[in-house]
Amino acid sequence: MTALDEPTSDERLPWHLRGNYAPVFEEVDATDLAVEGHIPPELCGRYFRNGANPASGRSAHWFGGDGMLHGVRLRDGRAEWYRNRWVRTKALAGAKRINLETGQFDLTVGLANTHVYRHAGRIFALEEGSYPNEVSPELDTIGVHDFDGRLRTPFTAHPHTCADTGEMHFFAYELVRAPFVTYHVADRTGRLVHSQPIDVGGPTMVHDFAISRNYAIFLDLPVVFDLEMALTGTMPFRWQPSYGARIGILHRSRAREGAQPTWFEIPLCYVFHIMNAWDDGAPDGDARFVWLDAGRHASMWDGGPDKFVPSMLHRWRFDLQTGAVHEEQLDDVSHAFPRIDDRRTGLPNRYGWGVAPRTGTRDEMDAPTVLAKWDLETGQRTVHDFGPTCTTGEPVFVPASASSSEDEGYLVTFVHDAAEDASSFVVLDASDMGNPPLAVVPLPKRVPHGFHGSWFADEQGE
Ligand SMILES: [Fe+2]
Repeated sequence: MTALDEPTSDERLPWHLRGNYAPVFEEVDATDLAVEGHIPPELCGRYFRNGANPASGRSAHWFGGDGMLHGVRLRDGRAEWYRNRWVRTKALAGAKRINLETGQFDLTVGLANTHVYRHAGRIFALEEGSYPNEVSPELDTIGVHDFDGRLRTPFTAHPHTCADTGEMHFFAYELVRAPFVTYHVADRTGRLVHSQPIDVGGPTMVHDFAISRNYAIFLDLPVVFDLEMALTGTMPFRWQPSYGARIGILHRSRAREGAQPTWFEIPLCYVFHIMNAWDDGAPDGDARFVWLDAGRHASMWDGGPDKFVPSMLHRWRFDLQTGAVHEEQLDDVSHAFPRIDDRRTGLPNRYGWGVAPRTGTRDEMDAPTVLAKWDLETGQRTVHDFGPTCTTGEPVFVPASASSSEDEGYLVTFVHDAAEDASSFVVLDASDMGNPPLAVVPLPKRVPHGFHGSWFADEQGE
């Protein structure tokens, strides 16, 4: 570890640059890593996770650092390698996102720091203000991907791939002029086949959206762009209750004919992350009801862009016949990073996983955390506790096989132990959170707290 990689407890720094939020500065390659326990041999592939890791050592906001990917390669029961790489974005090379003379955004310039996602054989490092940056399975940056020139908007950090069709559904939000939201679909071969403006109320910040079998579901919520804040260089968004809060539900087939969403007013809130959505229609049919499970924040950034309010798991049910909305809180413990078995995307899911506070609600951003599993059929929450000094990242579910049942598989993530200031890659049994980890792979370097990751199972020939 270099001196620069030491975590810092300097109280003069903002929380997102201290402790295990502090960036690391060395790009590491480690091979044939020691394994405590046994990596299930069917886990052949790569776990990649993205996060903000400012190359300068400083950023104005947690979300404002350069993207760094951390990856672990598993094959035949072995941990073949760990490595970490900055995404070689134009921003990392010094390019500016906004041309101050023209006011134009350059969509080829972004931080690529939020998620890493594979579609049609390409791996994208994503951040919602720009085009994707494609990276190789070895974590080398290939470059900006604009879908053969067809994509004319940014690309969300949270695309969703339909379990039925293999299409990747995604969206963009933009700040300066309408359309403020655009809905896109890429087919299973990666070709952009649909792009459509969505009529929202203004320059709302939209971090995620959902699909069900028949519908695309849009959030139009009261965190909106603020030009004055933009000029100060911080996150240019503020909580604006007068904007209102509503959910838009758009039939996926009728969208291709130009239809707009039907909007449902909901009580004021903000949602960063969706767990899942589903409907009761037959394939390519109409539904009576659409359900949406997501993390509901009572507000967001009310009083400043550092004012995070805990997220509570909520379920909304939208009646497409009567327009009625039913809203229900599913748990009284907060959570972050909700995930499901991705094979259930858009279909009813029984289980969800996420990060929860070890005790109480998570008021402190660096408080110890546990991995939680929700059985949404019984209402039961079970947890895996790594210990009183540990924090865990987003759990990514990996099915044991293509035909395995919904929770028959593994959770993979990074865990940091503040007592040792050390990070591990961990494999858990997703079906029983009480079991000890199946495998723990101590890593040569601390992995800072980050955002989202994915498991990329080996494709033929890898
Ligand atoms: Fe996110």
